[in-house]
Amino acid sequence: MDKKIGVGLAGFGTVGAGVYRHLLSARDVLRRRIGVEFEVRRVAVRDVSKPREVSGDLLTGRASDLIEDPEIGVVVELIGGMTTARELIEGALRAGKIVVTGNKALLAEHGEALFGLAEECGVPIFYEAAVAGGIPIIKSVREAFVANRFESMHGILNGTSNYILSRMAEAGIGYQEALDEASALGYAEADPTLDVNGWDAAHKAIILAALAYGFWIPPSDVLVRGIDTVTREDVCFAAELGYCIKLLATIKAGADGIEVRVCPTLIPSRHVLASVGGVFNAIAVHGDIVGETLFYGRGAGQDPTSSSVLGDLAEAAAALQGAPRNCGFIRHELYGKALPVGAAISKFYLRLAVEDRPGVLAQVAGIFGEAGIGISSVIQPETTAEGPVPLILMIHDAVTHVFEAACGRVAALEAVKDAPVALHVEAFAP
Ligand SMILES: NC(=O)c1ccc[n+]([C@@H]2O[C@H](COP(=O)([O-])OP(=O)(O)OC[C@H]3O[C@@H](n4cnc5c(N)ncnc54)[C@H](OP(=O)(O)O)[C@@H]3O)[C@@H](O)[C@H]2O)c1
Repeated sequence: MDKKIGVGLAGFGTVGAGVYRHLLSARDVLRRRIGVEFEVRRVAVRDVSKPREVSGDLLTGRASDLIEDPEIGVVVELIGGMTTARELIEGALRAGKIVVTGNKALLAEHGEALFGLAEECGVPIFYEAAVAGGIPIIKSVREAFVANRFESMHGILNGTSNYILSRMAEAGIGYQEALDEASALGYAEADPTLDVNGWDAAHKAIILAALAYGFWIPPSDVLVRGIDTVTREDVCFAAELGYCIKLLATIKAGADGIEVRVCPTLIPSRHVLASVGGVFNAIAVHGDIVGETLFYGRGAGQDPTSSSVLGDLAEAAAALQGAPRNCGFIRHELYGKALPVGAAISKFYLRLAVEDRPGVLAQVAGIFGEAGIGISSVIQPETTAEGPVPLILMIHDAVTHVFEAACGRVAALEAVKDAPVALHVEAFAP
């Protein structure tokens, strides 16, 4: 006889409705594979009067009803936001109910406290849907790679930004035109701020870093830059230099600590991540035993995200039937601490708008030379236009705050017009 597991579903929006639908469509597959039948006992929403594909008897406007139902063993939080979601998760853990969530923002900001409580209560939180939608990166890092030390992870973790940057490169269009196109195709939210300002990807990067390195990096120690300042010109110059620009999450273990940054980054056009186009996500994970691995797939959307939630439900079912479990995150001290934002070492691309006269390059090179920063290449395209001309420099490895201070001095030169544009360059380990 199949075991019946009571599920409380909080949220019936894009993901919640998908989970409900696929729990019905995959019922037979789940029964045969894991011998479990999931029964959705309550569905919490904000507005119970909205028509939905679910029986009105199941609906409630009080998320706490899910905690109070003794037949519910797993609470699936797909509300999003901070306040109600956090109260619900904490209440569920205290009531001994397993939690499944896709709420990356909540975990990135309050992971330390939530997993602390999970441990205290002896109840796990599963969160595959929180990072890269349908890609099973959480389970892979947590389980399949458990014996590895992680040298680095590089991820394209936001589909909207990746679509915009891909279109800028393919079609030679500007940022605003590519964003309008993404909105028209439904690839951008009505308010795309968190997608294009880098924070959606940064929340996911913080979760990956916590899993890989055993502690929660404070958001203030993460360098986060959006793609809204990337111009068509930069995309073209990058291509001329053999690079493409991606919103890249870089998570690295260095001698002095763990670096986490999310910013528009030049990556070599021949690198496998450069070929990840459109709304797709990808994560390259480098472990000391496994070597280089690559995960690729849809990073958002109803079906891929539901697939991850259903995977977590299966894991929750196993835990409820006595499978060995941990709380979903294990703190350890193998890697030390986070590297402050300015202390990280990186290569950079720098675009200046300068007066077209002799001696300017020497002045700029002099400032970087005094700061001990090397320039690996320079391009100054021929132009017949009046006014300032572009000067592009590729900068060798430099400590971020030293590079930024030198940029400040360059920006103050009389011959330099407009604010300099600096982007990180990721060369990847050979
Ligand atoms: N969309 C994706 O592709 C995706 C991918 C990965 C992870 N996620 C994460 O999954 C979560 C849900 O995202 P979504 O796109 O499905 O959101 P959504 O479409 O906006 O749906 C949110 C749902 O939560 C309900 N809700 C909001 N506040 C509530 C409250 N106080 N009490 C009870 N119910 C409440 C809403 O009710 P009403 O229907 O009555 O408004 C709605 O059904 C978020 O944490 C998101 O970051 C989403």
